[in-house]
Amino acid sequence: MSVILAIESSCDDTSVAICNNGKITANVIANQTIHQNYGGVIPELASRVHQQNIVPAVQQALINAKVTKQDINAVAFTRGPGLLGSLLVGVSFAKSFALALNIPLISVNHMHAHILAHFIDDPKPGFPFICLTVSGGHTQIVLVKDYFDMEIVGETLDDAAGEAFDKTAKLLALPYPGGPLIDKHAQHGNPLAFKFAEPQIADLNFSFSGFKTSILYFIRKQEKENPDFIAENLDDICASVQHSIVQILLNKLKKAAKQYGINEIAIAGGVSANSGLRNGLQQTADELGWKVYIPAFQYCTDNAGMIAIAGYQKYLKKDFVGQDVSPLARMEF
Ligand code: KG4
Ligand code: ZN
Repeated sequence: MSVILAIESSCDDTSVAICNNGKITANVIANQTIHQNYGGVIPELASRVHQQNIVPAVQQALINAKVTKQDINAVAFTRGPGLLGSLLVGVSFAKSFALALNIPLISVNHMHAHILAHFIDDPKPGFPFICLTVSGGHTQIVLVKDYFDMEIVGETLDDAAGEAFDKTAKLLALPYPGGPLIDKHAQHGNPLAFKFAEPQIADLNFSFSGFKTSILYFIRKQEKENPDFIAENLDDICASVQHSIVQILLNKLKKAAKQYGINEIAIAGGVSANSGLRNGLQQTADELGWKVYIPAFQYCTDNAGMIAIAGYQKYLKKDFVGQDVSPLARMEF
C-alpha cells in the first residue's frame, strides 16, 4: 500500500498530485497567468507565485484524493531541470513535508517524468519504445528501455519545438504562451498555404533556430507588399507553420523507428498537446503499422501526475534521497 504526494514546480505551473497504489487520484495545476504581461516566463515572478500557490495546491490535492496528510507514505518532487528559483520552492516544500511526517523523499527528473506519464493510464507502452519529448525547453528522441533506463538518441542543437511555436506566435503578436493559440488558429487554416524549408540536420537531431528566422524573413517580406498580411492570413500562417514543425518532428521519428526497428512510439511534453502532431502521428501510425501512445491532455503539459507516477516506480524500488538534496537547474538525463 502506498500513497505518494508529488510536487512539480520547475517552470511556471505549481502542480501537486497524489498517487494511490499506482493510480493518480489528484492532479491539481495552478497556472501562473502573470507572465502573459511580459511575453515569457519571468523567473523571479515565477518563484514568488509558486510560494503563494503551493500550500493551497497541496490542500486541494488532499481533498480531491480524499486522503489526509497522515495517509501519505512518501513525497516525490521535481529536482530538475528547470528554473532554479522555481525548483527551490518545490524542493524546500517537499523536504519540510517529509521531515515533519518522517517519511521518505523521492527525487524525480522532470524529463524522465514527461515520458513516464505514459504509465498513468491504459494502454501503456511496452519496453523498448521510442518517445519524442517536445516541450518549451526540450526536443528529444529517447530510446526507453525500462522505467529509468533511457537513452537520448536525438535532440535539438538550438531551440526547442515549443520555442519554435512560441517565438512564431510572438512574431504574429499572439500572447504568451503562443503554442496553443497557433494550434487554435491552425484548425481554421490551410496547412499548405505557405511553404517553409525543412532544416537539413544530420542523424536524429533537430534545429529550429534557422527555421524561426526563415519565418521572420517571410513575414517581413510579405508585410512590405501588404501591411495587413498577418491579419488577413493569420489562420493560414498558423496552419502552415504548424504543419512544417509537425513534418520535421514526424520525419525524424520515422527515421528513429526504422533505425532501431521499433514500432511502439510515444510522444510527451507540452507540444504533444498539439492537435496537428496528435493527428499526424496517428496518420503515420496507420501508414506504417506503429502502435502509438499519446498522453491525455492534462498529462502533456507540466503536471505533478507525471512526477507522482515516476515517484511510485522509485518507491517500489525504495530509491530515496536524503534531506541534503538540492535542486538542479541542469540535471543529467
Ligand atoms: O512541457 P511544458 O508544459 O513545459 C516545459 O517543460 O517546457 O511545455 C510547454 C510548451 C510551450 O512551448 C507551449 O507553447 C507548448 O508546450 N504547447 C503547445 C501546445 N500546448 C502547449 N504547442 C503547440 N500546440 C499546443 N496545443
Ligand atoms: Zn515540461
